[in-house]
Amino acid sequence: MGTKAVGAARLRPLEEPTRAVEAGVWIGCSHRGAGVGGSVLRHLLDQARADGFAMVFVSTGPNNKAVHRLIEGLGVDLVHNDDAVTAWVNLAEAQSS
Ligand SMILES: CC(C)(COP(=O)(O)OP(=O)(O)OC[C@H]1O[C@@H](n2cnc3c(N)ncnc32)[C@H](O)[C@@H]1OP(=O)(O)O)[C@@H](O)C(=O)NCCC(=O)NCCS
Repeated sequence: MGTKAVGAARLRPLEEPTRAVEAGVWIGCSHRGAGVGGSVLRHLLDQARADGFAMVFVSTGPNNKAVHRLIEGLGVDLVHNDDAVTAWVNLAEAQSS
């Protein structure tokens, strides 16, 4: 069986604070709601922890309920700004797997 790309994900180390990295996940619209995004985000958190990072930053739009739900599922508070919703995931506390 072949593999198929349905989205993209990245970890981008931040200059400040140290040992922090930004996580980004994008899943194609036709493949959303099937658990892929959640699985990828948990994998990114595991990877960040394995790479020695302490904190993961996530930023999304105010209407992206799926990522809000994923972050809240980690027990992390969302910060609602005018045009963005952000969160800092403490890898020592978050349950990612
Ligand atoms: C955020 C994103 C990656 C989620 O991908 P996905 O594959 O649809 O996510 P999942 O199927 O794993 O769903 C995640 C959770 O959101 C819920 N959910 C999915 N779609 C939803 C919707 N439209 N409204 C409310 N909740 C929704 C799911 O039920 C699931 O919750 P659960 O684990 O408690 O059941 C995807 O919507 C996306 O690419 N968005 C645009 C890019 C973006 O904003 N990325 C965030 C930056 S990190």
